Amino acid sequence: MNLTVEKGDVLRESAALGVLASFEDAPLPSDVAALFDANDFRGRAKQTLLLYPRGAVAPSRLLLIGMGKRDAATPETIRQASALAVQKARELQVSAITIGVNGEIPLPADVTAQAFGEGIELGAYRFWRYRTNLTNEQTFEVASATVFTQTNEELTRAGVEMGQVIARGVEYARDLVNSPGYAMTPERLGEEALALGERLKLNVTVLDKAQLTEQGFGGILAVGQGSDNDPRFIVMEYGAANTNAPTICLVGKGLTFDSGGLSLKPADAMDTMKSDMGGAATVFGAMQVVAELKLPLHVVGLVSSAENMPSSTAYRPGDVIKSLSGKTIEVLNTDAEGRIILSDALFYAQRYQPAAIVEFSTLTGAIIIALGSHATGMFATNQELADQLSRAGEASGERVWQFPMWDEYHQMVKSEIADLKNIGGRPAGSITAGAFLAAFVGEYPFAHLDIAGTAWADKPAKPYDSHGGTGVGVRLLAEFLRNYQQ
Ligand code: BES
Ligand code: MN
Ligand code: ZN
Repeated sequence: MNLTVEKGDVLRESAALGVLASFEDAPLPSDVAALFDANDFRGRAKQTLLLYPRGAVAPSRLLLIGMGKRDAATPETIRQASALAVQKARELQVSAITIGVNGEIPLPADVTAQAFGEGIELGAYRFWRYRTNLTNEQTFEVASATVFTQTNEELTRAGVEMGQVIARGVEYARDLVNSPGYAMTPERLGEEALALGERLKLNVTVLDKAQLTEQGFGGILAVGQGSDNDPRFIVMEYGAANTNAPTICLVGKGLTFDSGGLSLKPADAMDTMKSDMGGAATVFGAMQVVAELKLPLHVVGLVSSAENMPSSTAYRPGDVIKSLSGKTIEVLNTDAEGRIILSDALFYAQRYQPAAIVEFSTLTGAIIIALGSHATGMFATNQELADQLSRAGEASGERVWQFPMWDEYHQMVKSEIADLKNIGGRPAGSITAGAFLAAFVGEYPFAHLDIAGTAWADKPAKPYDSHGGTGVGVRLLAEFLRNYQQ
């Protein structure tokens, strides 16, 4: 999408489709109000009305989009309204649109503009790589959008650009998640990291099975040993450690397919399990955003990637694994594999002496029971880090909700025959998973984000969502990292 910002009034500039986003309680200019019966459009959130002004205002088509009450406006309001605008434009097969707001938005100009950039870019996203025989109507894409602003043209331009960069990171993550398991194996994910590194000048290292064996990545190897698609460990480094650039480690779970292994999942729990590398995708998307924004940080992306399969070579319930940290893990359920591969990545993160370790994983079904798809579960060992992530969640519209990490939960994953066991029973299943992970980060500030409920959307709930991978975490991380304070 070619996105530009110009100074002016959307009603005075000619266009095939002008979009006017309007609040419920801000009166429309009389030349627009005269075009329709007031009952047909009140400006309620997501309400739309298409008008043919026939010269009354400059655009040949005028689309009104409601944004609800002005006082209730947040970036989310703008994000949704602008995504809706792009989708309507696609339906109408208009390739160039203009967008403006009626009345003042009670938000800073750069914040508003960023939401426009995100909404417009994401509103156009879809993953149709595997669909054939599409009609011209279906393949039609909106080529360009111009955002009109009456004030703060420069701030708006920078904000829209920022939003678009972030949204492209989200789309990258969605593409990775939406790719079928055979097309996004651990090996392919490693190649993807090398390509990303090449593109954005990141320092990328991919460890293959032989190197993992030699270096003692016992967790990743155990989970991956049942599959012919060998596991990988991926390191993506942006910037370098120095006093002005704190080191943040981003860690992602990259199960390119999770069958459950010998503790096999039922069919209806397996059908979306290509998305079990959603945490890895979040890290990939965030690395792209960090590099494109040239943030003044040292960011290290770490991804453990494996395929969890049942076979005669698969790891078994009852096995004891020696993880990279040296700690031993009793496997009681091969379907609790994410925490096992993550244990190696989290221990590895310690070598960077990071200011923070932020880890994303589609870790537990239990978090879906707790929060549904409306928030990501957060489990942290450091309250300042948790608070920064909570604030970033609010600001980005990717909410997180914090759970407790009391000592009792850590006790629940202690094993009789090894240092840890990989399940703590059904009660507090998401918290004990977080407690398991916390055993591998030493004293470094650590937050685990369980995105099992938010990384995948069967039916998109918002106009800027699409079926499948959501790319959750990329917007959150962009906000967190841009504001990061040690
Ligand atoms: N990848 C799953 C968690 C998951 C479930 C993600 C649903 C997305 C949607 C994870 O590896 C898993 O299987 N967890 C088990 C843990 C249990 C065996 C302790 C679960 O939640 O059932
Ligand atoms: Mn599993
Ligand atoms: Zn899994």
